[in-house]
Amino acid sequence: MLLPFPTVFLQCRRGSSSEPRKHSTPREAYRPAMAEQAGRIARLAKKWGVKGGDLRALRALGRVCQSECPRDRARFNVRLFLAVAKREQVAESWPRRPCAGRSRRSRALPRSGSPQEDSKITERISLEGKVAVVTGAGRGLGRAYVELLAERGARVVVNDLGTNVSGFGKDSGIAEEVADLIRSRGGEATANDSDVSTPQGGRDLIGRTIKHFGRIDLLVNNAGICGSKPFKDATLDDFDHYWRVHLGGPVNTVKAAWPHMVAQRHGKIILTTSVVGLFGMRGQATYAAAKSAVVGLMRILAIEGAEHGILVNTISPNGYTRMHPAAVADPAWLKQSEATMPVEAVAPAIVWLASDGCLETNRIYNVEAGAIQRIAIVMGPGFYDPYLTPESIAENYAKVESIEGFSEPGPFEPG
Ligand SMILES: NC(=O)c1ccc[n+]([C@@H]2O[C@H](COP(=O)([O-])OP(=O)(O)OC[C@H]3O[C@@H](n4cnc5c(N)ncnc54)[C@H](O)[C@@H]3O)[C@@H](O)[C@H]2O)c1
Repeated sequence: MLLPFPTVFLQCRRGSSSEPRKHSTPREAYRPAMAEQAGRIARLAKKWGVKGGDLRALRALGRVCQSECPRDRARFNVRLFLAVAKREQVAESWPRRPCAGRSRRSRALPRSGSPQEDSKITERISLEGKVAVVTGAGRGLGRAYVELLAERGARVVVNDLGTNVSGFGKDSGIAEEVADLIRSRGGEATANDSDVSTPQGGRDLIGRTIKHFGRIDLLVNNAGICGSKPFKDATLDDFDHYWRVHLGGPVNTVKAAWPHMVAQRHGKIILTTSVVGLFGMRGQATYAAAKSAVVGLMRILAIEGAEHGILVNTISPNGYTRMHPAAVADPAWLKQSEATMPVEAVAPAIVWLASDGCLETNRIYNVEAGAIQRIAIVMGPGFYDPYLTPESIAENYAKVESIEGFSEPGPFEPG
């Protein structure tokens, strides 16, 4: 939901982040001028039909006011415009349902928005000209990804086999519906119902992408299934069922996309893990094992892709979808998750990772409810004894256990 202009300006008036900090005139002196300008700009915006997220239009508005106001006020207007543009960008990223609150894990994050941070305004990220493939994009998180990617100018391939939550069945209409929606909004999209858990499906998806759009810049491996079993009940076939989608999906699609990205000397790959695989959750043996395997795959793709300009990262998303009731029975938790974790709050991370300005690779990001955090596997300084014995380990276990003063090992390169 976009914030209406008057609301945003009211916020700017009340807040301090958009006000000039190093100006010789006292802040109070600006208040009447701000009120007047807020009204003026809101009227102009309405007259011109300016969309909130359009940074260029906001800047143009700023210049008009600049020419009409005294110098000090004009300077202040520009700051206001930039602040508004930034706020609007954030609001625009969650078009359907902004988060109502923060989840337990993300609440631990420090609050952003220091004066220094607020004064840095990033140009609106555009993905114009890029081709993005998202697997499992017919619903849930993947759908939010393609919608935002298309909104930011990417041409998208909406892949979805249309299975039930456990990975059985097929419905080709799911992907088609999302591609239709994007086209109806003026975006470029094509649907594909390949089963990415098979090598043929991976080849088909990428082959069609190249045929349709001529290139592939971004491959988001998002397709997934859920509804695992406790370890004591899970057979190797059950593990295989999960591996084929969560690990096989990326293997099949990346294998097909790799030669094109190598030839382009450019490409971005995003894999999907889960806190369930990284940190554990009762009853999720098959799902967790497959989700952790994805991180191992990322490590190697990042190393082997670097020399070809291919960047590979992993996202650990959290957004309320049909997977939540399939994995968790507690109604209170489900209700809270539904209210606080919209899938739209994860999609901005995908757009940022896809952008030219993002040069990260070999990273894992947890993204949920307005928070993004890097997850790292680190090593504590530990205990060293050249004559290590079982007894010396037992005696020094506190040092073994501690990760204070940790390091984060890079790729293991022997020789
Ligand atoms: N929702 C969360 O909070 C959460 C948390 C951690 C990880 N994840 C991961 O994020 C991804 C998306 O999950 P979601 O919650 O949006 O699930 P979802 O069930 O809403 O969507 C997944 C989509 O993948 C499709 N799919 C399944 N198997 C496929 C195959 N072989 N080929 C092509 N498409 C296939 C399904 O038809 C479905 O539309 C999954 O990988 C999931 O494991 C989700």
